[in-house]
Amino acid sequence: MNRDNRNITGHNEENLLSGKKYNIITFGCQMNEHDSETIAGMLQQKGCIETFSKETADITIINTCSVRENADKRFFGTLGQLKKIKEKNPEYVACVCGCMMQQQHVIDTVKAKYPWVDIIFGTHNIHRFPELLEKVYGEKQKVAEVFEDADDIVEGLPAKRLYKHKSFVNIMYGCNNFCTYCIVPYTRGREKSRRPEDIIGEIKRLVADGVKEVTLLGQNVNSYKGKGADGKLCDFADLIYMINDIEGLERIRFMTSHPKDLSDKLIQAYVDCDKLCNYIHLPVQAGSSRVLKLMNRRYTREGYLELVEKLRNAVPDIAISTDIIVGFPGETEEDFEETLSLVRAVKYDSAFTFLYSIRKGTPAAEYEDQIPEDVKHERFNRLVEAVNAESAARNAAYVGRIERVLVEGVSKKDETTLSGRTEGFKLVDFPGSAELAGSMVDVEITEGRTFSLTGKLV
Ligand code: SAH
Ligand code: SF4
Ligand code: F3S
Repeated sequence: MNRDNRNITGHNEENLLSGKKYNIITFGCQMNEHDSETIAGMLQQKGCIETFSKETADITIINTCSVRENADKRFFGTLGQLKKIKEKNPEYVACVCGCMMQQQHVIDTVKAKYPWVDIIFGTHNIHRFPELLEKVYGEKQKVAEVFEDADDIVEGLPAKRLYKHKSFVNIMYGCNNFCTYCIVPYTRGREKSRRPEDIIGEIKRLVADGVKEVTLLGQNVNSYKGKGADGKLCDFADLIYMINDIEGLERIRFMTSHPKDLSDKLIQAYVDCDKLCNYIHLPVQAGSSRVLKLMNRRYTREGYLELVEKLRNAVPDIAISTDIIVGFPGETEEDFEETLSLVRAVKYDSAFTFLYSIRKGTPAAEYEDQIPEDVKHERFNRLVEAVNAESAARNAAYVGRIERVLVEGVSKKDETTLSGRTEGFKLVDFPGSAELAGSMVDVEITEGRTFSLTGKLV
């Protein structure tokens, strides 16, 4: 069956799912968050109603992540809790999906040890979920359906957005990079790019619905290769220029870009495209060229530093964040110190730091010189200290500046305080009232802390 560009349109007529309450529990990255929005969108179209606890739901969906071991553990913990709910309510439907389900050993474990699970599906057949659910209700049977990879991209799926004024937009799926520590290429399949006109069409519809900011999603957006209806090829920078022309849209962000493919053309797009935010998440993973080679990252420390310099020369106030792994197999104290010195040289605005976690099926899992846990933790603490010192210094330098902020809503801590994001993706708290949610305002920064800024409206 060719699923290319099939449009799935919804309907709200009475059906087996109408009126059922669903709860989605999401682990993992933005890719998964967005998949959960799609699952919610499809269920809403079937007349289902969202509920925010698994105890009050008729259907619970756990969307899993497999990137590190603690994500796996949290999943199995949550799955254990569903057993009790199912015992009280035999009609309860327990569903699991996401990256963990793309691994046969996980499916085997779920089937053997968690027999109360009704539906298992994967990352490539999300569009099939309502049909699988109807099968469970109609035929009273369990279903497991996981595709190894997608044939083609399914367009036209609905999404129930988490935020009214900003939205994720997938531009590509999968990853071809096979960094030696990473499970994602095995759980998300090979790279596939959406057609530029499908992306533009989606963003125009989002803007008509009130969206001001889009975050373009892909495991490595820099290797986006779209093909227009006219047969013309479109790379990531071309796509940014096209999106920049969409009237009514105010901000463009993207996640994630791999340093090896960051082109001069994209750096120029920062200069030319006023809607492209002066922010980049540029995962470095390690500061030692030797470790980077073992990781199969295909750039060196020097290459990365040159790239940062080029970016800062073209866009002086660009905010840069990163991902770093400590304790990769074979990492010596000298290698680790190179990571510390790179953090100090780049002066990141923020960094996500991770303890290396063995992922079954990846090359690094087989490497012999795994680092002892206590050494990993000790390095991790030193790294966090270095990262936080740089973040605090970067944020302190914002005091006195006036920043354009997209207001997200009232702060979780206090109803008279609003939270929003600057162009550089920094979180800012400032006094204000709820009706400003979704608008762009100017905020003068009065305080810069390690993880956020404080300000006042101007
Ligand atoms: N595609 C994105 C990253 C996806 S995973 C990119 O390449 O930038 C998000 C982050 O998780 C990675 O950047 C990496 O820092 C971390 N990560 C991936 N596998 C890991 C592992 N086995 N152990 C620890 N951290 C890992
Ligand atoms: Fe994983 Fe590397 Fe692909 Fe990112 S680029 S998803 S770290 S294999
Ligand atoms: Fe996790 Fe899958 Fe994202 S493994 S990080 S949810 S792509």
